Amino acid sequence: MKFEALFKPLQVGPYKLAHRVALAPLTRMRAERESFSPRPLNAEYYSQRATQGGLIIAEASPVLSHGRGNPATPGIYSEAQIAGWRKVTDAVHAKGGIIFLQLWHVGRVSHSSFHGGELPVSASAIAIKAEGMKAMTADGKISDYETPRALETDEVKGIVEAFRQGAKNALAAGFDGVEIHGANGYLLEQFLQSRSNQRTDQYGGSIENRARLLLEVTQAAIDVWGANRVGVRLSPHGIANDSGEPDPMPLYTHVVKAIDKLGLAYLHFIEPRSSGAGRADVHWENVPSAMVLFRPLYSGVLMTAGGFTGETANAAIADGHADIIAFGRIFISNPDLPRRLRHDYPITPYNRATFYGGEEKGYTDYPVYDELATA
Ligand SMILES: Cc1cc2nc3c(=O)[nH]c(=O)nc-3n(C[C@H](O)[C@H](O)[C@H](O)COP(=O)(O)O)c2cc1C
Repeated sequence: MKFEALFKPLQVGPYKLAHRVALAPLTRMRAERESFSPRPLNAEYYSQRATQGGLIIAEASPVLSHGRGNPATPGIYSEAQIAGWRKVTDAVHAKGGIIFLQLWHVGRVSHSSFHGGELPVSASAIAIKAEGMKAMTADGKISDYETPRALETDEVKGIVEAFRQGAKNALAAGFDGVEIHGANGYLLEQFLQSRSNQRTDQYGGSIENRARLLLEVTQAAIDVWGANRVGVRLSPHGIANDSGEPDPMPLYTHVVKAIDKLGLAYLHFIEPRSSGAGRADVHWENVPSAMVLFRPLYSGVLMTAGGFTGETANAAIADGHADIIAFGRIFISNPDLPRRLRHDYPITPYNRATFYGGEEKGYTDYPVYDELATA
């Protein structure tokens, strides 16, 4: 076998992974458009990508309605959504797969049209204004970002409670664990980074204060699941959604060290070179590697994602930089990606035009290798 390190089993919390090729969390905007519940089509998509002992991280799912910022993204805050997700987890479990749900609040990466005219919320009243970045409205139109409303101190506890409830709902929906979305410029990262957080209460100012919400949310998930079935995702050095800590190392050193003490299932990075991967192919040279920078600070299972191929993924694991590689875009276009890597079969290229929204096209109609080979 060419990529031996990728196919070495690994214990993650209570779960025995048969290989290290994980499905990265991927927003696909194909949930039911009124109730934001997963549909049978979504169950089919996840089932296609499930393997015996393989890890799937299901797409970012808002823990409350005010945490939404995209049309047709599935939520995890209603009974109908729990029932929809139950069909997904059953389908994945039927194939022996392990599935975590990514818990989400978009914060300022939203628009008042999603919230009956109320402004999106954030750490501070600072709008996204990076060149070319536009908000999506609830009916799929493009708009400038509005200046969000800064959450009051006593409202921040409500955010922690919403994540706690989301974690409970994920348990009721049959997931095997949850991942806290602390990456890509969404609410928890808006609190982490000085660029979007200019608060003067216990959630702003010092690094300890800015990291407080992420750690309180993580603790709430731990209360529900136990630490060994909770993961956290971070994107140090990322620039998605107008994020970007001016000096990331002190902030992320603090966060990674604090998370290291918790005994989580895993810590999950997005490599800086792929920040913003949903919108464009970005492959930067000379950017720091998250796994290389932070591995020495983290003693648990480390997962990372960002432009990996079979070769580079296998090398990252063989060299000890990471334990699991999450694949996004090429797992979209290769539903049987673990098998293709195992046998070094050719990789089908992805079509960016069908990433977000729509039906089967570009979602459940990518063939497995055997179908290609006999076509
Ligand atoms: C269509 C699309 C949707 C994404 N949605 C999410 C998401 O819901 N949560 C998240 O943390 N990252 C999301 N990402 C980032 C991916 O999880 C992954 O980190 C990124 O695509 C880099 O991996 P890749 O080069 O293998 O695609 C998304 C990326 C793409 C392309």
